[in-house]
Amino acid sequence: MQQHTYPLDAWCIRETAFDTQSHFLDETLFALGNGYIGLRGTGEEGYSGPAGTSLDGTYLNGFYESEPITYPETAYGLAKINQFMLNVPNAKGVELWLENERFDLLTGSVDAYERVLDFRTGVLARTLEWTSPSGRRIAVRSRRLVCFNNKHLFAQQFEVTALNFDGTIRLVAALDGAVKNIEAGDDPRVGSAVSGPTLHLIGVEQQDGFAALVQKTHNSGFTLVSATETVITAERAQAPVQEQEGLRLTQTWELPLKSGQSARLDKFGSYHSSRDYAADELLPHSRATLAEAKAAGFEALCVEQARYLADFWQQADVQIAGDDALQQGMHFNQFHLLQSVGRDGKTNISAKGVTGEGYEGHYFWDTEIYIFPFFLYSKPEIARKLLEYRYAGLPKARERARQMSHDIGALYPWRTIAGEECSAYFPAGTAQYHINADIAYSIKMYMEATDDQQYLVKYGAEIVMETARIWAGIGSYDREGRFCINQVTGPDEYTALVNNNYYTNAMAQMHLNFAASIAERLQADAPEEFARIAAAMALDANEPAQWRRAASLMHLPYDQALQIHAQDDSFLSKKVWDFANTPKENYPLLLNYHPMVIYRHQVCKQADVVLALLLLSDQFTLEDKRRDFDYYEAVTTHDSSLSSCIFSIIAAEVGYQDKAYDYFMETARLDLDDTHGNTHYGVHTAAMAGTWMGVAYGFAGMRVLGGELHFAPQLPRQWQHYTFKIHFRGALLQVHIEAGRVEYSLLQGEVLDFTHGGEQLTLTASQPKQSRSYA
Ligand code: BGC
Repeated sequence: MQQHTYPLDAWCIRETAFDTQSHFLDETLFALGNGYIGLRGTGEEGYSGPAGTSLDGTYLNGFYESEPITYPETAYGLAKINQFMLNVPNAKGVELWLENERFDLLTGSVDAYERVLDFRTGVLARTLEWTSPSGRRIAVRSRRLVCFNNKHLFAQQFEVTALNFDGTIRLVAALDGAVKNIEAGDDPRVGSAVSGPTLHLIGVEQQDGFAALVQKTHNSGFTLVSATETVITAERAQAPVQEQEGLRLTQTWELPLKSGQSARLDKFGSYHSSRDYAADELLPHSRATLAEAKAAGFEALCVEQARYLADFWQQADVQIAGDDALQQGMHFNQFHLLQSVGRDGKTNISAKGVTGEGYEGHYFWDTEIYIFPFFLYSKPEIARKLLEYRYAGLPKARERARQMSHDIGALYPWRTIAGEECSAYFPAGTAQYHINADIAYSIKMYMEATDDQQYLVKYGAEIVMETARIWAGIGSYDREGRFCINQVTGPDEYTALVNNNYYTNAMAQMHLNFAASIAERLQADAPEEFARIAAAMALDANEPAQWRRAASLMHLPYDQALQIHAQDDSFLSKKVWDFANTPKENYPLLLNYHPMVIYRHQVCKQADVVLALLLLSDQFTLEDKRRDFDYYEAVTTHDSSLSSCIFSIIAAEVGYQDKAYDYFMETARLDLDDTHGNTHYGVHTAAMAGTWMGVAYGFAGMRVLGGELHFAPQLPRQWQHYTFKIHFRGALLQVHIEAGRVEYSLLQGEVLDFTHGGEQLTLTASQPKQSRSYA
């Protein structure tokens, strides 16, 4: 897919020419969302290009259809149903006709064009001039936003001005339910098995500018009301003609325009589903939401949107001086993360956010290990919502554990929307048991950063202990007395079903110890709460001690000869992939080789041991880290977008500045530059958050070790300075790093202790700033 070179503006992406070559990709890049509704960046008028050059999608985070997974050859316990995010009715459509000519950028000529997605206003704006095939010239200005303050609402404005003619124009506001999801092709990362309509119509409402489609999913049993309210502003506007054509509801205005005159349509759209409300409340909610939006008006919604974003940037902004491309990439990524993240405790953040159908709207470990830190340290209240989502999934994780023959405990699904395991390919799905430890790790991070004891007692403790039980269940002691975890897949999906994956075992060790310490602490400090939780999970009094024992005897593979941590028991004995003779077009390998061929080799799709070096940082010496990095770098393809950011962070730590920078840049503009060639199917949210980690963990050397916050800053030579902020223990800390000097400022809170390159520092409200030099 061809991509644009955008001007390097720090706070927006701007396109100055209409480009059919990059259209599909731009639909993703210019997508809008509020963590619930996602509107791809397609123009209001739609796109008439050939199949495969557009996906005019609208998505709702967490709203899904389900389908049985059919395995021609099945086996016990395989995931039974798939859940997938639906392409829901398109409510943003506006058709424009000049007499009998339809406004369509692929006909006539585009004389001027600009489209801007502004990260500070949250508005997508397009201004253009177009000449119809017969020579009528118009100017079009459209703006839209998806409201952060109301998850059900979006708003848009579409204005047309006649430039060189007098005549009748027709504006058609559409609510179109005749939409489809992408059908699965050869790329396992895209498309669901479903074809044809997924929502059936159960009712229609159309009166006085309000239009609604009431639909139901076939299998998941949800009702959805998609609705619009439109307001016309034009001289001599009559009441619109309302029509229904199948699943498409329209309101049409015939408007006489003289040259120089304009007509404007304000349209408000809403989505309410029975995942949030009782089915009979959906229409009343839709009416109320839209009536309120209409009364407030488009401009007022813009003001609210900008206010929400001002607050977000005040806390989250990462400023980088000296590299405009990077600054733009950074803001773009942060903005899209905010647009993608569910904030209601019932939804999470999917691998592609709400920008496209890649990975079907599923949530993965991407959330806990890649995305969570960004929210935890920038908007902790959102991080908490992500954790609440996992608590809501605990009953289904228990059920899944029983299906997997674990008598006790909970096993979280590898990929899911509503909590059921949806991975149809278990070697790179269910077998990734590390998901349990990843979730426990995020709870540990959360507790260290917030000390939110209420969360721990109400939700966290139960999750951590229930999931820890699975390690005790699947692990066993070998003849040498080592605790082994066999037949799992680690993060690296080019190696599957192995014994003692280093990452898994090391994270399980952390998890078991964390669970035991929670049990011990609660027993001592909050015995009543502990008794309640223990009763709820029928915890045996001996279990915490068993967890401690398994953790202390955990087998952590190490190769003495190479002096590196072995990815698993067999990895280092396999033949190294023949990289020299693998043509460039054969990457990603997953699209060109049978999984068995890949599994037989030493080749990694992504950081595995190297990720452990980051997450369990204090368990390794710098020398360990360097040797592991060198070894695994040579066998890693980075075919997963989750890889480069981790390699960047460890490269920075071990002193490989150039590599740190190169890997970092790969992550920072991964979507803007479409370096993985699939951004048209949606942004890569894990990599986006990896950019944030690259700055904080990578260049600023931030780590939280034993609950203590540490920094060990450095400045890439390409930059002049950089600044970011961290919420930690009720304080907001600003870290500003320039050549040889770092300034720490306490922006909120009473006191904060942390270390800078080993030196203990304390900031207080009365002494809120300290500077230090660094080598
Ligand atoms: C990666 C996984 C990741 C998934 C979703 C895959 O390509 O290998 O680690 O969870 O994408 O982003």
